Parts: sequence; C-alpha cells; structure tokens
Amino acid sequence: MKVLVTGGAGFIGSHTAEALLARGDSVVVVDELNDYYDLSQKMANIDILKAKAAETGSQFQFFQADCADMTSMTTIFELERPDVVCHLAARAGVRPSIKDPHIYVHSNIQATVTMLEMARQFGVSNFVYASSSSVYGANTKIPFAEDDTTENTVSPYAATKKACEIMAKTYHSLYKINVTGLRFFTVYGPRGRPDMAPWMFVEKISSGSPINKYGDGSSCRDYTYIDDIVSGVLASIDKPHPCEVFNLGNSQTINLNGFIEVIEDVVGKKALIKQLPDQPGDVPLTYADLTKSSRMLGYRPQTSLREGMSKFVEWYRHFRVQSQVQSRPATSTTLALNSSLLSSHHTLNFGILKRSEPEPLTPPISPRSKKLRFESANETEAHPHDGLFAPPLA
Ligand SMILES: NC(=O)c1ccc[n+]([C@@H]2O[C@H](COP(=O)([O-])OP(=O)(O)OC[C@H]3O[C@@H](n4cnc5c(N)ncnc54)[C@H](O)[C@@H]3O)[C@@H](O)[C@H]2O)c1
Repeated sequence: MKVLVTGGAGFIGSHTAEALLARGDSVVVVDELNDYYDLSQKMANIDILKAKAAETGSQFQFFQADCADMTSMTTIFELERPDVVCHLAARAGVRPSIKDPHIYVHSNIQATVTMLEMARQFGVSNFVYASSSSVYGANTKIPFAEDDTTENTVSPYAATKKACEIMAKTYHSLYKINVTGLRFFTVYGPRGRPDMAPWMFVEKISSGSPINKYGDGSSCRDYTYIDDIVSGVLASIDKPHPCEVFNLGNSQTINLNGFIEVIEDVVGKKALIKQLPDQPGDVPLTYADLTKSSRMLGYRPQTSLREGMSKFVEWYRHFRVQSQVQSRPATSTTLALNSSLLSSHHTLNFGILKRSEPEPLTPPISPRSKKLRFESANETEAHPHDGLFAPPLA
C-alpha cells in the first residue's frame, strides 16, 4: 500500500511514517518544513525516515511543499498516485492561533480542502486526517464522546479543526470518499513538540529554570503516548470507514499539579514554579471517552503517563547530548545533516518542491504570496538533494 503522509517531518507524522515503513508500506511524505519550532528537529525526522526505508527496503519519497497549494499537490499526486492519504500537516498550538489566526486558516482549513480535492480527483480509497480534542472546547460533560457537541470551541485553532471535520463530512456526502477524523488528546513522547508542556517542563525542571504554571494547577489533560496514537492512526489507515470521527486519547486525566509531580519524579528534581493566571484559549479539562474507538478501531492505549514520561525523558537526555555535540552555526548544522543524507542511501529518490525565494518570517506570510518551484523527477534524480534543506519557511 502506498500512503501519502502530510506533516511527516513533524512529531506525529514522522512516527506514523516510520511505523508504515517498518511494516513495508510505501510512504510519500509531504511537509513544508516550516519553522514553527526548530527546523533541525524536522530535518532529523526526515533523516530517520530515510534510514528506516533503507533498513526495511520500503519505498520512501519526500516532498517539501505546502499542502494548501493545488498546483504542487496535483504534481505530487500525478507522480505518486497514493492509495491512502494520512493528512496530519497543520499549524498546531492553541495559544499562537489567537495571535495569528490567518496562518491557521491557511495551513489547516485551506490545506485540508486541497487534500480532500486531491483525494477526490485521484480516487484515494481512504482519507485519514488529524482533528483534535480541542473541538470539545469548554464542554463540561465528561468524558468527551464523539457525538458530544463541538459548538463550544475557544480558540481559532480549535475552530479550524472543527471546520476540517465539516469539510471532510461534506466531501464524503458529495463524493462518497471514505473519511476518518482522529481527535488526538495531548500527544507526547520522543521527538515531541518543544512548544508543549511535557517538553517545556522537562527542559526547565532539568535545567533548574522556573516553569510557567498557568492557573491553580487544577486543569486536567488526557496525555497520550505517541506509540498509542500511532496504533490508532494505523488502524484507521487499514480499515476505511465511510465517514467517522474517533477519539484517540488515554482516558486517564491528570491535573497540572499531578503532572508536574510525575515529571519531578522522573527527572529527579523539584520544579521551581512561576505562578501565572489562566491563559485565554486553554480549556479546563480534556478527557477522552474511548468506547467508540475501542469498538470500531480496536484502539486500546497501553502506556501509563509515568512510563511514557520516563521514555520521553530518556530520549530528551540523549537528544540534548546530541544537540550539544552538534551545536554549531545553523548553516553548518544544515550542511552536516545534508552531507549525512548524501553519504548514504543513494538509491532513494527525493522529490523536492520548494519556494523560489526566501520569505520574511514576520509579518505572517499571506497564503496567496506563497510560490513554489518544482524540480522534475529527472532533475531531482540528477541532483537528489538540492534544496531539500532550503531556508525555513513560514
Ligand atoms: N501533538 C498533539 O498533542 C496534537 C493534539 C491534537 C491534534 N494534533 C494534530 O496532529 C497533527 C500533527 O501534529 P504534531 O503535534 O505532529 O505537529 P507538528 O507541528 O510536529 O507537525 C506538523 C507538520 O506539518 C507541517 N505543516 C504545517 N503546515 C503545513 C502545510 N501547509 N503544508 C505542508 N506541511 C505543513 C509542519 O512543517 C510540521 O512538520 C496536526 O494536525 C495537529 O493539529 C496534535
């Protein structure tokens, strides 16, 4: 099976792509490699996928491109003709979406509509996409079940995710495309996102810096370990449903105070706490009802928070040591990564769609100003890595 994974250089996308390659599927990754967080982390994820493909003999292609762009996506779909789309690319993060909602509309809503259009035009058999527990917003009925209202979103990010669900449902009703939306609940683990609490707290507690604690510590989250999430994503890829949404959580909430205690135990250090008021956009509680995903996907999370955080901290310590060893100006890091790609696995064929010009990071880039350049498959083979590590994008 050939699966096109968008956002495959990111946290959940790279784990999903890695698991698909490990079991022998062909994987096409599309990611714009934006600089929402450290780009070298995303490049390293692509490196891991390339190594996994070489190890397993699975086919792997990487395209740097904006999923919202119809022309680029049409080119990729014409070249690759994937059986399944696993659309995980998005601007993630609740708080930044309040500051800059436009980029969220572009990368979440517009990109999802483009991907649905591709699925329709190219007869994709299954369209699996990332939604979020944030669609439950300020709901007070717990645990959150898939048929609960999603009328109470409290951030632009959540609203874009709800819009994606509505669009997917509409495409199903118009064109009978199989669509499955996955509402992820606070995912953490190795290669996680540095803007999320598990990473930030581990980083600060380890280094003896104060952590920002928003609110009185009673807000609760349903933290879900990455391997459990990947098992749910693969189950959705393998079994098309006409039109469904599923919760993928852990169904064990912990409040912020308890979460900090777990990290203190795992790291072996007490946290210094900077108390701050509640943040706009944050919801007081997330708590997944897994009845439906368990019944229809066979989804059963296995990893306790303590076990998952121990694995994350182990990875984080290794990552920090590696980062210090490799710590050098950005250009040489890029060159080092690039040459490590060049030095191995020449048989892999990388397609590249990249911007023709560097663009300013601020103010936010207007989606319409985005330009992409495609290097044909032949050019790409002749110069397999040109532009793969182009300057950070939006
Ligand atoms: N991590 C979580 O706890 C969580 C929770 C709920 C939902 N989600 C959703 O899961 C998905 C994956 O999240 P993640 O945590 O891995 O985030 P991530 O930021 O690590 O990965 C997203 C990737 O998408 C890419 N991307 C963004 N916009 C793009 C565009 N327009 N075109 C091409 N690539 C683009 C980014 O470069 C990035 O590599 C997202 O849809 C996110 O909204 C994540």
